Amino acid sequence: MDAESRPAHPDPAAAAHADPAVADPTTAQCSPCPLLHDPALERRVHDLGTDLLSVARRSRRSVLSGTFWSDKMMDWASRDQAFKLQLFRFIDAFPSLGTPGEIYGQLVAHLTAPGVKPPPGLRLAVKAGGVFKGLTAWILSRRISSTARRFIAAADAEEAVKVLEKLWLSDTAHTVTLLGEKCLSLDDARKYQGDYLHLLRAASDAAAKWPARARAETDHLGPIPRANISIKASSLHPHLDPANQESAIEELLEMMLPILSEAKQGSVQLHLDMEESELKGIIFGLLKRCAETSDVEIGVVLQAYLRSAEDDAQDLIGWTRATGRQITVRLVKGAYWDYEKARAERTGQPVPVWTLKSDSDACFERVAARLVDAIPKSPDEGGIKLALGSHNLRSIVAVLALLGRSGLPENAVELQMLYGMAEGLKAAAVERELRLREYIPIGPLVQGMAYLVRRLLENTSNESWLKLGSTYGADPDDLLASPHRSDECAADGQETG
Ligand code: 2OP
Repeated sequence: MDAESRPAHPDPAAAAHADPAVADPTTAQCSPCPLLHDPALERRVHDLGTDLLSVARRSRRSVLSGTFWSDKMMDWASRDQAFKLQLFRFIDAFPSLGTPGEIYGQLVAHLTAPGVKPPPGLRLAVKAGGVFKGLTAWILSRRISSTARRFIAAADAEEAVKVLEKLWLSDTAHTVTLLGEKCLSLDDARKYQGDYLHLLRAASDAAAKWPARARAETDHLGPIPRANISIKASSLHPHLDPANQESAIEELLEMMLPILSEAKQGSVQLHLDMEESELKGIIFGLLKRCAETSDVEIGVVLQAYLRSAEDDAQDLIGWTRATGRQITVRLVKGAYWDYEKARAERTGQPVPVWTLKSDSDACFERVAARLVDAIPKSPDEGGIKLALGSHNLRSIVAVLALLGRSGLPENAVELQMLYGMAEGLKAAAVERELRLREYIPIGPLVQGMAYLVRRLLENTSNESWLKLGSTYGADPDDLLASPHRSDECAADGQETG
């Protein structure tokens, strides 16, 4: 979902794939954001933002993102990049380590790398060695599991439906997903397919028994499905090859067919998550094939940190106009920034992402403006149902202001936020009667490490809006400042320092 930061895959070597067709950044479209030249609209953003921020700060759920930053290890990681990289690499590798000796050995190997300065407690544990190996490994396992449980809602579908019901009763919809991506074999892919089918049935059966909640089950066009599942294509196919896009799409469609039919039968909405940019063509292609094959409600994700994001938006808008189909688009910044940058550097390809955080923020608003124009005004008109996957208040209120400018009601857009993050913002959204959906990952922790590392990267980024917004003293004017520059469409997007 949203990268408020520079989240990534911490280990570029772990994610080598076939060569991508990355959009040439110099030819990507850019049209000025309506917010750039409209002071009245910018004032509206400011008013809406100040209002929501004060509700978030008053909320019983208190600070914007829980107690995360009181955690000494994460605080240290936010301040020391070298330590952060090694710590997150260790966490990524953690599930594959068996004995306490192995855990301890890997910890030492990661934290004694040149230039890495662990916080005092960990430094002591690394030095102590010997008899403390077992204790250090035990404490670390407990810390990693409890950190993971902040972001991972349940171990299985049965446990998950209880979480979904609780959310529902507090006026919050869900999209639930199975942890695990990049399956390694066809057997693995079939197991994921079976698990998705099981989850679909469990969510659909549970949702049918819930009491009515008008806000969570209606948008400006009418009823929307109560149950919603997000799917990562890489969990349904072991070798997605961008060089053979058409066959990858057909093979994925085969895997999706039972899921589409079960979703249709159980009135469940499906959502295809976006992953690394080399899979973008496959995932957009799969979305179109699924939507042509079944009239199930379906959506996809658009990443504003990609320089190609406006072209991507135009592609989807054009397709909905040509087919008369409605799809949901979850607009996010993107969660694989470090990976994208490291990969481009390694392969010598153009960097597909904006390198300045403010350029991703500005692009988010430009793309949102195009998508707002494509929101259907009636149930039988093709177009884009817009969802904002963001924890950045400025990005959210900018879109609410754009909706008002187009004469659309606030329930024409849905806010989506991740389980375990931005609690104050969620409470403010519910209090303001905005539509809110939580992204709920479930599954064994062992399959959740890549997801966990992306959340840790987001939460420890010094550029994260969540982190800035969690500071009570932070000035609303700074938090709501416009990301636009008058020359943004002329910029080459390179870091200027
Ligand atoms: C991720 O998996 C939330 O889809 C987003 O990081």
